[in-house]
Amino acid sequence: MNDKTMYNLSYGLFVLSARQDGKDNACIINTAGQVTTEPNQITIAVNKLNLTHDMIAATKKFTVSILSERADFSLFKRFGFQSGKSVEKFSMFDGKKRVANDTFAVTEGTNGYISAYATQQVDAGTHTIFLASVTDMDTFNDVPSATYAYYQSSIKPKPKPVGKTAEGKPVWRCRVCGYEYVGEELPENFICPICKHPASDFEKIV
Ligand SMILES: Cc1cc2nc3c(=O)[nH]c(=O)nc-3n(C[C@H](O)[C@H](O)[C@H](O)COP(=O)(O)O)c2cc1C
Repeated sequence: MNDKTMYNLSYGLFVLSARQDGKDNACIINTAGQVTTEPNQITIAVNKLNLTHDMIAATKKFTVSILSERADFSLFKRFGFQSGKSVEKFSMFDGKKRVANDTFAVTEGTNGYISAYATQQVDAGTHTIFLASVTDMDTFNDVPSATYAYYQSSIKPKPKPVGKTAEGKPVWRCRVCGYEYVGEELPENFICPICKHPASDFEKIV
């Protein structure tokens, strides 16, 4: 089986935001999609380790801001490479707008937002899948949405190949965020400490 075929799926990229007890937070996801039009429903899949997960499980309310081809890598670093458990991701960040469900939509590097209310959740092991009814949405501009492939080819900085470290150990690099693990073999159950993607998303740098 070729694990890399998953990269051929043409999913988009989103900033998923929530608000609980006066705290705003958001993370990057690639797992938002429409499931029905009448009524209008979407799903998101969120890692249980993410603070955003717990906030949505508690409040049911969230907003998906749709990243466009103008999204800068700094947005991915701010929302996708650190947790709201240790930082205030929205502080010193102007590209946001409070929307009807009281969460923030991200207005920088995005082309619109969809707010929704979770009606059901499915335990998918590492992730929870939330099924949600759309409550509000708006379009900001007509810049094309960023696909995951566009992120890989044009937004994420190209890492320099390193091959082996000074001690001669191989390096494994996360294809999603660039985190590097040094060791002969990458443990099968390894989870990227930065973006939480699994061992199958790592490549050995030669
Ligand atoms: C390109 C990219 C795609 C990601 N996709 C998802 C996803 O679909 N679901 C998810 O739960 N986390 C995803 N993540 C990881 C979260 O954004 C990341 O773990 C974040 O730091 C969680 O923040 P929080 O703890 O404040 O919620 C992705 C990260 C990146 C960079």
